[in-house]
Formats: sequence, C-alpha cells, structure tokens
Amino acid sequence: MKKQLHTALITVAILTFCFNVFAATEIRLDHANTNINDKKSLQRGVKLFMNYCLGCHSIQFMRYNRIGKDLFLNDVIVAYEKAKVAVLNNQPLEHSDLVALSRAFDNKITNLNQAKRFFAKISEEEIEENLIKTTDKEVRENLIFADEKIGSLITSAMSVSDANQWFGNPPPDLSLVSRSKGVDWIYTYLRGFYKDDSRVFGVNNHVLANTSMPNILWQLKQDKPSKEFDQDIRDITNFLDYVGEPAKLVRFDLGIKVLGFLFILFIFSYLLKKEYWKDVKYGKWRAKD
Ligand code: HEC
Repeated sequence: MKKQLHTALITVAILTFCFNVFAATEIRLDHANTNINDKKSLQRGVKLFMNYCLGCHSIQFMRYNRIGKDLFLNDVIVAYEKAKVAVLNNQPLEHSDLVALSRAFDNKITNLNQAKRFFAKISEEEIEENLIKTTDKEVRENLIFADEKIGSLITSAMSVSDANQWFGNPPPDLSLVSRSKGVDWIYTYLRGFYKDDSRVFGVNNHVLANTSMPNILWQLKQDKPSKEFDQDIRDITNFLDYVGEPAKLVRFDLGIKVLGFLFILFIFSYLLKKEYWKDVKYGKWRAKD
C-alpha cells in the first residue's frame, strides 16, 4: 500500500513538473476582448487598417462597398430616419437633418417646406438608392486612397517581388488571419514588438519570433496613453475578425432570433403533446384514474 502511494505521489510530481515546463514555453496570449457588434470599433478599425496596414497587406476577399454596406450604411439610415420624423412632426430641422435629407433626395435641402415637397414626389426605392450612393461616396472619400473602384477587392499596392526583396517574406493576405490565428493572437502580436538591434528593422516580436514585419505602429504607441493604444489595436483586431467572417454580423443576430423562435415553438409543441396524450391516457378505452 505504502509503495503504491509512493508511486502515485512521484507520478503526480513528475506530471506537475512537465505541465509547468510546457506552460512556461507556451506564449501567453492576452485577451483581445473584441466585440464584433461594436460598429464604432469596427469603423475605427477599418480606418486604422487602411492607414497603417494596407501599404503592405491586402484583404483580397473583401470589397470596399461591402464594408460600406456592413459598417457605415446603418448610420446614414439612422440619420435619415431621425430627419424624416422631424419633417413629419413639423419640427425645426437641425443642420445634421438637412445634411441627411440632402443625401436622401440627392438634392440640396435648406428648409422644411422644400423637404416636404421632396417627400411628396420621391419613392422609397429612390431614397434607398441615394442612401447607398451616399455611403459609397463616403467610403470612397475616407477609405480609398489609391485609384480603386468602390466595387474592387481590397488589394495592396505592393508587388510580391518588391515585398520579397524588402522583407524576405511577402506580407501575407490578412483576409482569413483571424480564423487561422485567432483574435487573441493578433492582438498580442501587434502589441508584442520589442527593441532588438540584431534584427534588420531593429525590432523583434514576442509572439512571432524574428518576424520580418517592422513595428509600424511605434509612432502611434509613442503619441498615446497605453490604454488608447490598446484600444486602437483592439479596433484593428476587431476589424480583422469581421473581415474573416463578415456574415458573423448577420449570423449572430439571426441565431438569437432562431433560438427565440424554437423556444416559442417548444411551448406550443409541449401544449399540443399534452392535448394528444390526454386522449391516449384518458381516452374512451381507458377510464379516468
Ligand atoms: C511595412 C510592411 C508592413 C506593414 C505596414 C504591416 N505589416 Fe504586417 N507583416 C508584414 C510582413 C513582412 C509580415 C510577415 C512576417 C513574417 O512572417 O515573418 C507581416 C505579418 C503580419 C501578421 C502575421 C500573419 C501571419 O499569418 O503570420 C499579421 C497578423 C500582421 N502582419 C498584421 C498587420 C497589421 C494589422 C498591420 C497594420 C496595423 C500590419 N500588419 C502592417 C509587413 C507589414
């Protein structure tokens, strides 16, 4: 008995030691805490991505107008709906309402009466088309720097041969990086650069040792309190999560509705089952207990 106890204790000690050694060699990833439903975060993320990453990385499974539709169209519609309510209630129009209405009618609107006249002659479909056109225009002005079309795939201007020459490793396309590496990995990687003079760009990375990516966010990090910098990285990571699966925005929303539907269906099915079984239990062939 004593011998068995000894063996068990030694086994536990060895296992604990092994776990600790393996745990120590594994990279600890910080929690990204991203939220794909946070539209403001995604909007900031796409701007940061276009400014800081697109020079090297493409996201070639994504199109500019899809980003417009998914991330910016809703704000344009909300502003329009607010202005519409103001017009219907004969309330004074604020500057933002006039802007929203001008977009919806694709005409400059300066006062309430003019807005009413337009409402009388324009159809809902035309308004919808104009709102989409406005969103596309905003995307073109704020997100597209190169000579690209709104329906284009988001490709990087850097050629593969240049990239090979400069970095030894071409910067990979980031369309699916959130799926292959996970958001925590990206978040920790982008915050994980440290000074290392032995490397070509003077930096190394805790997560991807000897990475050939320069620390392009160093200036941003220097200019801001670390909390804000972390938020910037969270926003970029959140955006890459969205790019990895844009349908997630719809899927999560739909998922909750489907579960709600199933729950209600369950209640009715249960009541129906009780009704049927009443006949089986207490039908004419069996007297009530
Ligand atoms: C100056 C060019 C350059 C810029 C700008 C740049 N990167 Fe990179 N990036 C690279 C290179 C090169 C690699 C390949 C690193 C390697 O494999 O050693 C890389 C790798 C990565 C990886 C790892 C991908 C993988 O699957 O291993 C991620 C994630 C990444 N970059 C994200 C970003 C983000 C986000 C930005 C913008 C904030 C950015 N990069 C800006 C050059 C760049």
